Formats: sequence, C-alpha cells, structure tokens
Amino acid sequence: MQLQDVGLTFEEVKAYTEKYLIDTYERFPFLVTKAKDMYLYDQDGNAYLDFYGGIAVNSAGNCNEKVVAAVIQQTQEVMHVFNYPYSIPEVVFAKLLVETTGLDRVYFQSTGTEANEAMIKLARKYGTDNYGPERYHIITAKKSFHGRTFGAMTATGQPESAIHKGFGPLVPGFTYAEFNNVEAFAEQVTKDTIAIMLEPIQGEGGVNPATKEFLTGIEKLCRDNDMLLLIDEIQTGCYRTGYPMAYMYYGVSPDIISMAKTLGGGLPLAGILAKEHVAKSFTPGSHGSTYSGNPVACAAGYAEFKELIDRELGKNAAETGEYFMEKLRALPHVKDVRGRGFLVGLELDVPKAVEVKHNAIDRKLLTTAIGDSIVRMVPPLIASREDCDKAAEILRDSIEALG
Ligand SMILES: Cc1ncc(COP(=O)(O)O)c(C=O)c1O
Repeated sequence: MQLQDVGLTFEEVKAYTEKYLIDTYERFPFLVTKAKDMYLYDQDGNAYLDFYGGIAVNSAGNCNEKVVAAVIQQTQEVMHVFNYPYSIPEVVFAKLLVETTGLDRVYFQSTGTEANEAMIKLARKYGTDNYGPERYHIITAKKSFHGRTFGAMTATGQPESAIHKGFGPLVPGFTYAEFNNVEAFAEQVTKDTIAIMLEPIQGEGGVNPATKEFLTGIEKLCRDNDMLLLIDEIQTGCYRTGYPMAYMYYGVSPDIISMAKTLGGGLPLAGILAKEHVAKSFTPGSHGSTYSGNPVACAAGYAEFKELIDRELGKNAAETGEYFMEKLRALPHVKDVRGRGFLVGLELDVPKAVEVKHNAIDRKLLTTAIGDSIVRMVPPLIASREDCDKAAEILRDSIEALG
C-alpha cells in the first residue's frame, strides 16, 4: 500500500498514528515504502542501510524473492483452513526443522511470546504427568527477555522494569538467578523445580552471551535433578549466530526450544521443537491455536529457511559477523563489543546509545539501542563486508558527532 493508494501525505500518516494507535513505540522519523535486501526506502526515496532487520527477522534479506514467491503462490492456493485438514507447508517445514535440529516434534504458533507460553505450558504439563501437580517451578535468568504475555512476561527476569511494572499479580512459580552463574541457579533448585529456561545469548538484556561453562553446567544441573532444559532461540536461532540454533555452539541438548522472528521469513510464525518424551505431554485438547501452522506463514518460513541453508547464510553470519565486530572494536568510545555471528552489541563508555542511534538514522543507518549504552545490530544475514564497512564508518561518524 502506497500513500497515493489511500490519498494520504506522510504528515497525515504521522498525525493519524498519534491519533488512532495505542502507541508503545518510539518510531523512526520516516515511513517505509519499499524494502529490498539490505535497504529500506522512505517516502522520499532515501535508502537506509538495514542493520536491525525488523529486529532479527528479515534474515534472508528484505522481501527476499523466493520468500515473496512462496507467499504469492500459497495465498493463491490456500490461505487459512485451521488444523483439521492435513497441510503441506506445515509438514514440510516441520520435517526440515526436525532434520536440522535433531529434536523430534514441532508445534507452530504465531509469535515469540506464544511460543514461550507453549514451552512453559509443555514443561508444566510434563511435570504434572511425570511427577505430580506440585512440580511446576521454573528458574530463568536475571536480565532475560521472553515476551509480553503473562507466562513469558513472568519468565522475563526484569522485575523492576516497565515490562512487569503495573501488571501484577504475575504467574506463580518463577524465580530468577544470575546469568552465567551455575551456583546461583543450583541454589534455587527445589524438589518442585521442573525446568531451567534460558537464552543462549541474552538479546534484549544487552547482548550477553552465555559462557560454555555456564550452559554445560546448567545442562548437568538439569540432568542431575530430572529437570528440563528450555532454550529460547527466538532471537538467536535460525542461523543468526552461524549455527542453525545457537545452543549448538555449546554442545548441549535442550528438551524444548522456542523459535520465532526469522522463522516466518517476515510473516508471523513461531514454534517450539521438543524431544519425543516431552512432546507427548501435549495431547488433543491440551493446547491449540487458530493460526497454528498457517499455510502462508509456513510456506514463507520454509522458503526463508531453504534460502538460509542453500546460500550458506549461517556461514556468512559467522564469518562476516566476526569481521564486523573486529571493525567495531576500533571505534571511539567503545567499551565492549560482544555477540556471535550477526547478533552484535556495541557497548559505549558513555550513556549515549540512543543519541548514537539517532545520529546513525540521520546518516541513513538503522540500528537499535538497548538501555543507555548499548547499540545492538541484528542485520539480515546476507550483509557483506562492504555493508559492514559502511555501517562501521557511519557509526564512527555518529559517535564522533556526540554532543
Ligand atoms: C529472546 C526473545 N524471546 C521472546 C521474544 C518475544 O517475541 P515476540 O515479540 O515475537 O512475542 C523476543 C522478542 O524480542 C526475544 O528476543
């Protein structure tokens, strides 16, 4: 849809946004009329280098041709039928995900927070089925982010933040322990603990990678205490860190993982993958969703995933991401650069991340800011060394221009 199609000016779109939307976002000062590969284009045709990828979504590039073609074909064939008939896009994508990860079964959802709800529900049901109804306690990490619906929001270990404030009472049965500290988690395990739930790299918490000792230590803690290991791969999964899923770097074997963002190639698609003995706890009637396995979303996700595999974009993310991080380390005011592949956090030694983000927008580079001092970049995985050189130069100018 373009401005001329609805007879509006950009100023009117801005005014209507303020008037008609419940606005929970700080917006970029432009509207997007076109998106292609590494670039977004505004109402005046200006091109912006995309280093936020719709927040880790458009991994095979904005409006990837194969994904677009799959969506067009599927919308012309079957758009939605609910889960009563068998469905080709749903099953071919599920098979590909199982073959890629080694986990056994998939349940599709529409958004990340719903996938985490499903993961939490499945863990609790498994606890009840195998040990009784008291075994529902889940430990998550401080500074984690798992979503905005009640279960996922409660799992989010940021009790003092706007994510929690004013929404109480939250869901019982969650406690938080310090990330990268196995002892802190071990201290919270009781006979009623059924699972530990973690991001391999905390995305919204500031791009904090788990150490190998931590994740393997947590896996051992889980095995020793008959608890499930739940991994939230919503931001880290789908080749972003170079691996099909980020947990693979650590050599651990989670019982359930949640996925979203890139999974739908730009359409709302999320899901969980579970081991067989755990998946068994969801039976007909125990869980469901109208849009689960939506044919268009699954066709898009399948095409996106095939692109990531066929073009070896995980390899590009790993190699070019490393190159990019090295370049960023040479910039002024840089305290730390961390992440893996194309999940990159640049921590400044001054609390001016938002100002850097705005300066970068003025210079036609798109990033996101986390808190006061972290600039996060999660570009499409097609980003080249030249794209990274350009982004690093714009960031240099944006930092040097700080007041
Ligand atoms: C690690 C993680 N989990 C869950 C979510 C929530 O996903 P959604 O916004 O699709 O509900 C996010 C979103 O940023 C995320 O980064």
